[in-house]
Amino acid sequence: MFKCIFRKDHIYKCLLNGEWVESKSGKTNKIFSPADGSFLGELQAMGLEEADRFILTAKAAQKSWGDTAVNERAQILHKAAEILDKQKDIIANVIVKEIAKNKKTALSEVERSVDYIHFTAEEGMRVSGENLSSDVFPGFNNKKLSIISRVPLGVVLAVSPFNYPVNLSASKIAPALIAGNAVVFKPPTQGAISALYLARVFCEAGIPAGVLNVITGQGREIGDYLVKHPDINMVNFTGSSSVGRHIAEIAGMKPLLLELGGKDAAIVLEDADISFAAKNIVSGAYSYSGQRCTAVKRILVLESIADNLVDEMLPLVKKLSVGNPADDADITPLISDAAADFVQGIIDDARQKGAKLLFGDQREKNLIYPTLFDHVTVDMRLAWEEPFGPVLPIIRVKSIEEAIDISNRSEYGLQACIFTQDIDNAFDIASKLDVGTVQINNKSERGPDHFPFGGVKSSGLGTQGIRYSIEAMSRSKAVVINFK
Ligand code: NAP
Ligand code: G3P
Repeated sequence: MFKCIFRKDHIYKCLLNGEWVESKSGKTNKIFSPADGSFLGELQAMGLEEADRFILTAKAAQKSWGDTAVNERAQILHKAAEILDKQKDIIANVIVKEIAKNKKTALSEVERSVDYIHFTAEEGMRVSGENLSSDVFPGFNNKKLSIISRVPLGVVLAVSPFNYPVNLSASKIAPALIAGNAVVFKPPTQGAISALYLARVFCEAGIPAGVLNVITGQGREIGDYLVKHPDINMVNFTGSSSVGRHIAEIAGMKPLLLELGGKDAAIVLEDADISFAAKNIVSGAYSYSGQRCTAVKRILVLESIADNLVDEMLPLVKKLSVGNPADDADITPLISDAAADFVQGIIDDARQKGAKLLFGDQREKNLIYPTLFDHVTVDMRLAWEEPFGPVLPIIRVKSIEEAIDISNRSEYGLQACIFTQDIDNAFDIASKLDVGTVQINNKSERGPDHFPFGGVKSSGLGTQGIRYSIEAMSRSKAVVINFK
């Protein structure tokens, strides 16, 4: 197998036109593990003048890639998925060190990406155009036939966040490629090493030179330049709402897919199976220490059953193990000290304003212990802000209407969950919630990855999900035959 040499000692390189290259400036960013502070490597800090080469290379390579038969593109994706599967243990170990995700979850992220890429290769073969006859429109006879096919957009800029450096990169790159686009991929700085392993997989699978290019550097330094570049035809971004909003402001007329923050509510009704709801909510709120866009980030529970819910939840929260990601701890250090400071600020605000601390509020550097608050009220930051950490508020409500109102008053609208035994009521509430997805009797979550996934309001723009992502990264083109 062709080996892609993507690093020299601890210095990782960028992928440009099929070659692994270093920045001409010699500048690098050093990466340390959030788990124990150990040095992991150095990334190229590409400058603006160098960014041009990545984009122009992709533009030049796209034409022949777009003309390549879909079944050939699919074969390369299948090959990439097979190689990724073989390397899953190595890559999971990199994720463990680089973003302090526990081994079990890191492995499942890679396995899920293998399935994602295979499924995308299959789905890309099924996405097709249509024919429309003119005679269905008033005043027209059948002398016109519109033949509609799907064509690539050109060069897609893919920007992914730290929390799923492999999965949320694969879920941009694979649909973009199968649709015939070339890709400029900008991974998160903390998470880029894992993402570069993924890029190497595509390289080893035989992706033609220039079709996938990977540029590293701080988003705040090169991001705007990449987004605004006239030869970038589409931006597919996952990350914070603040950066997403900024991208939307500067992108001009480029199509956008934005997956942003969330404040998913779990609404627990009087007829819910409380023990089942408690298990779901605890796992939904605290997995990967709450650093998931779809983490359950607030509980809206009817007053009459709130004590029961607390009784069921508290032992589960107390049982969560805290520590090292390599030891598969449930709660691991957050991505940075700054992230932990932010979470601590939200915790302090809740305590000052009188929330009842049930468990937690313990911290060692960037390790925040699982924290659960009861009697959180709407004047507290914890009721509205996305902590991206292991802290969960219980907000007691008097009625279902109040739960719907508080859920909808959020600036976010990613997902919401309803726990109830009454399916009619569940559908009625679901129809009133301003979110992309409502889960009935389950925690909020993205998968399975062919389901549509997207948020409203500050949670995003457009719909992901394998077929939806392929469609978003292609467009329809019509040729009209006019018969005599
Ligand atoms: P972030 O700080 O917004 O960074 C995301 C990516 O954007 C990184 O690659 C970052 O690069 C880059 N970036 C920064 N400034 C940029 C700019 N001006 N132009 C272009 N790119 C720029 O987010 P994060 O901390 O990595 O991720 C956490 C957030 O993502 C949370 O809010 C979470 O809810 C959200 N998220 C949403 C979803 C979803 O599907 N809705 C999924 C996962 C995460 P650098 O790393 O170099 O700064
Ligand atoms: O935050 C990442 C997003 O893709 C959610 O995936 O599986 O954690 O719900 P999941």
